[in-house]
Amino acid sequence: MKNRKVVLTGRPEGQITASNMSLVEEDVGELGDGMVLVQVEHLSIDAFIRTTFDEAAFHGTAEVGNAVIALGTGRVLDSRFDGLQQGDAVFGPVCAQEMAVLPGVMLQKLEDSQLPPRCYLGVLGLTTGMTAYAGMLKVAKVKADDIVVVSAAAGAVGSCACQIAKLQGATVIGIAGGEDKGRFLREEIGCDSTIDYKKGDVGDQLSALAPEGVDVFFDNVGGQILDDVLANIRVGARIVICGAISQYERVGEVNGPSNYLKLAERNASMSGFNVNYYEQDFPEMQENLSQWVIDGGLRLPEHIEEGIDQFPKALLMLFSGGHKGKLMVAP
Ligand SMILES: NC(=O)c1ccc[n+]([C@@H]2O[C@H](COP(=O)([O-])OP(=O)(O)OC[C@H]3O[C@@H](n4cnc5c(N)ncnc54)[C@H](OP(=O)(O)O)[C@@H]3O)[C@@H](O)[C@H]2O)c1
Repeated sequence: MKNRKVVLTGRPEGQITASNMSLVEEDVGELGDGMVLVQVEHLSIDAFIRTTFDEAAFHGTAEVGNAVIALGTGRVLDSRFDGLQQGDAVFGPVCAQEMAVLPGVMLQKLEDSQLPPRCYLGVLGLTTGMTAYAGMLKVAKVKADDIVVVSAAAGAVGSCACQIAKLQGATVIGIAGGEDKGRFLREEIGCDSTIDYKKGDVGDQLSALAPEGVDVFFDNVGGQILDDVLANIRVGARIVICGAISQYERVGEVNGPSNYLKLAERNASMSGFNVNYYEQDFPEMQENLSQWVIDGGLRLPEHIEEGIDQFPKALLMLFSGGHKGKLMVAP
């Protein structure tokens, strides 16, 4: 049996390019004790993958020559692990490939549910729905009378974060690039208003929409957008650092926000969070997220690129913003 995988061919300097990856074919070997063969069905395209391309990486380093690190869902084709059998749906660190051979202990069996397995990458997923839930409800503790701003609002985490804030009754302003994304946020995601950061100054647009300032900022982008929102916060505001996608090409040289003194002036707080530290809340998060999806209060559009050869294109798209909602590859 043959497997095709996307391997890291070299470490990028700054922006990643398709030439940092290449597609290789190999034989799938014999399964050892405790190992499972998985047919990968969907791969989650996540910003953390970019950071694994660097040598000193926060989320672990991908070795040059190895398959690019990625989370995914799939079906068990063969198993020499007691807890899994042929046909089971699973989630795990399957990497950018068509077939994955992994120790069974690294895979989570997905029980039958009303939602398809790929939802465990998107709306119910650790790096998407659960991240939005943790940031909005556990860190920001968003309330009905809050004015909430979300950056990269039309992406995976952002789309969920906006809707979770709306479900609490908050007023939500989404920041995204381009008119099409603004329309998507207002018409499909339910944002009250939007800011096109490519069109003009974010600070000016925000002060026109929220002249009294904002209570919560759920930031996925960092850089200038973080500074512009900090200049427009209300007394007692909560700034939640979910990510900083504008900075991942130079994580060792990030400059802090120059408007950080607004935190002292407005008695505000800024907290970073990592969803992995909220493990005790995962059952609650998945239960509430599932219920909202089933009730129709939460939906996450998907952008799926077909074929493992499309993995490099999809990863680049995450940074150029060519998708709306959850970006995935179906190998
Ligand atoms: N804290 C945690 O535990 C945790 C877990 C998972 C993910 N995250 C973070 O969540 C954030 C969103 O991740 P995601 O997977 O949902 O990605 P995503 O939002 O689906 O895609 C990224 C979006 O960011 C925007 N973007 C890219 N470069 C930008 C730039 N230089 N300036 C402004 N906007 C830019 C693009 O939208 P536009 O077209 O609008 O530019 C793009 O669509 C990332 O920062 C990620 O690191 C954090």
